[in-house]
Amino acid sequence: MMMAPIAPPGTPHVPVLLAPLLRAVAPVSGTWLDGTFGAGSYARALLDAGAARVIGIDRDPEALERAAAWASAFGERLTLVPGRFGDLAAIAAAAGAPALDGVVLDIGVSSMQLDQAGRGFSFLRDGPLDMRMSQSGPTAADLVNRLPEAELATILYEYGEERASRRIARAIVQDRKAAPFTTTLQLAGLLERLLPRPKPGQPHPATRSFQALRIAVNDELGELARGLAGAEAALAPGGRLAVVTFHSLEDRVVKRFLALRSGAAPRGSRHAPETPGEAPGFELVTRKPIAPDAAEVAANPRARSARLRVARRLDTPAAPVDPRALGLPRLALEGLA
Ligand SMILES: C[S@@+](CC[C@H](N)C(=O)[O-])C[C@H]1O[C@@H](n2cnc3c(N)ncnc32)[C@H](O)[C@@H]1O
Repeated sequence: MMMAPIAPPGTPHVPVLLAPLLRAVAPVSGTWLDGTFGAGSYARALLDAGAARVIGIDRDPEALERAAAWASAFGERLTLVPGRFGDLAAIAAAAGAPALDGVVLDIGVSSMQLDQAGRGFSFLRDGPLDMRMSQSGPTAADLVNRLPEAELATILYEYGEERASRRIARAIVQDRKAAPFTTTLQLAGLLERLLPRPKPGQPHPATRSFQALRIAVNDELGELARGLAGAEAALAPGGRLAVVTFHSLEDRVVKRFLALRSGAAPRGSRHAPETPGEAPGFELVTRKPIAPDAAEVAANPRARSARLRVARRLDTPAAPVDPRALGLPRLALEGLA
């Protein structure tokens, strides 16, 4: 994983893989749900492409506040709901749309969140060690200052695939005895001291640990598993599900979910336990994930690791997927239990 290029604060969010997404879900009509509203670029594009109505969900109150200035221009065609896409089926039903024609999820943080030092997501900008998308609940500093060493190491290893996880956790616990971690650069500084200096083209030494803490603080993988199941429950027959991910941990979950629920996964394997009698809930629209082309990566380097998967809901009852078959790290599974 490469370092996210730094952008000046206030730089608008550039939507990722939007054109291929619109092509893959065309024609757009009826009621769509955008579970990761962000700057609203997907929602606006879906409305422009023919959606009669879009329900936009974001767990970050700032995202919805920012949209207030323009959202009213769409009148009743755009409904904004603060909340989590893990609850999307209930949110859609409460908004009067129990059967959706499409669900889009563009997982992860927005440029606005990443570029605002005060949100604490970036190891390149000094700010409070926060990382909460919803601006409520325990912060990254709470985890770093309070968790036992072994739990910290597990988070860094499982959510950041950080091989030096134990060494980093030991150093954090040692340092926090002298003074608690309060800022992003304080933690980034420890990681820079501890890990080898990156060669040109290699990621910043804080990349994996910051990703791990962000995933833990926001329970991102648990949300993804709940959101996929919610989409299957809420989509009408023929409805489309489009998911954009940004790293392999996320893409693996989407890939396994769609393989299992489209009948593409070999049955009876370690990842797809035998569940006789279940009819597939989806048909794959994209057999392989769609990646940004060279022009998109040149225009928006942050898009380079994005992957899009699209599936079409079939006319069958929704069926539960065993979360153990989704390739989730053990920590995320414990949260789902
Ligand atoms: C990558 S941005 C989406 C950008 C959007 N597609 C656009 O083009 O403007 C992700 C957004 O999803 C939100 N988000 C992430 N996880 C969420 C969740 N589980 N529930 C609701 N919102 C979430 C974040 O707060 C962020 O605003």
